Amino acid sequence: MAPDALPVSQMPAVPPRILLGPGPSNANPRVLQAMSSSMIGYLDPDFMLIMNEVSELLRRVYQTDESLTFALSGTGSSGMEAGLSSLLEPGDTVVMCIYGFFCERMVDMATRVGANVVPLRAEWGKPFPEDLLEEELGKHAKVKLVTAIHAETSTGVRQPLEGISALAKAHDALFMVDAVTSLGGNEVAVDDWDIDYCYSATQKCLGCPPGLSPVAVSPRAHDTVKSRDSKPVSWYLDLALNANYWGFDRVYHHTAPVSMILALREGLRIVLEEGLESRFERHRRNADALRAGLDALGMEAVVPREHALDQITPLWIPEGVDDDTVRGMLLREHNIEMGKGLGALAGRVWRVGLMGESSRAEYVLGLLSALEDILPRVGYEVPQGAGVGAASKSLSTA
Ligand SMILES: Cc1ncc(COP(=O)(O)O)c(C=O)c1O
Repeated sequence: MAPDALPVSQMPAVPPRILLGPGPSNANPRVLQAMSSSMIGYLDPDFMLIMNEVSELLRRVYQTDESLTFALSGTGSSGMEAGLSSLLEPGDTVVMCIYGFFCERMVDMATRVGANVVPLRAEWGKPFPEDLLEEELGKHAKVKLVTAIHAETSTGVRQPLEGISALAKAHDALFMVDAVTSLGGNEVAVDDWDIDYCYSATQKCLGCPPGLSPVAVSPRAHDTVKSRDSKPVSWYLDLALNANYWGFDRVYHHTAPVSMILALREGLRIVLEEGLESRFERHRRNADALRAGLDALGMEAVVPREHALDQITPLWIPEGVDDDTVRGMLLREHNIEMGKGLGALAGRVWRVGLMGESSRAEYVLGLLSALEDILPRVGYEVPQGAGVGAASKSLSTA
């Protein structure tokens, strides 16, 4: 029977999954509770105080004193599109560091804006080589913007940003960073790294559902948006208009998603209660344990540890093993979601996300135990107990 023909009483409930994919990750129960608070007007003076708190908490998580911090109504892609369509005008040159699936999404968006897009494509699965950028910047009289992704979720590489930022600044360009998968799981130091525009998403390392894109806008980026010759093509994602609503002017822009803003406030409080350093350390410890377990099962991560992210670990699918079958068995038999590969890595890798609420030792052990159960049944023998044992040992010595 088609799902829409089912009697209401038989509609499926939302199963309580363990979300170990690229996001959404599990939401903290306190966050879900905050979302069920009573409704309040988006211009209510008490809601304004809540928005102030969200901005302040974001400032701390983004490690910035200088930038405006607020949240766009939309998922991470809205932060990406708001930055590109607000900072770039048609004909402006943008040099884009490209090393994964989401970098390519940026190219698509910047092209739609009508910018002069210069994509610098480098090998997926490795940090972007800065000399490529240096050489390219030397060829242009004026570059408006340089872009990079801190945590490429498609490859699992942690991209160092200081060098790219220094090159952008040496050429008087603005620097835009995607921190969708890093914020809350890795250090993102907006002021120290001289980032002009940084955006993230609520559903990964911040422990909230998808729906908002928290951003940090430097004074220089804000001035750039305010002094454009032409209006940004997107009204909804105009950074200056959104900043007006979140800033002192409180000018009505659109009906803010009140419950999501309450969720973000709670999520950020939880991040800061844990402490940024302890949170990063938790992500590191659990990623180490996962890698130790996979290694013991003879499975190989795509990215060597020194360049790897802690919150997402792509691993090569063993020869002869079917991608969908294993992920399906994990979901149906063990209630665990694991991610599939994207773009050039589709069908070749699985991606294990240990982000925010989902970065827990018991989930690492549960996943390894489930893989030890499933893999021999699909033709890939593994030493029983070896993965769980190695991960336990890693956790106990961490
Ligand atoms: C690095 C990166 N950037 C951008 C996005 C897009 O975010 P969203 O799916 O929330 O729109 C994602 C989503 O996974 C991502 O991983």
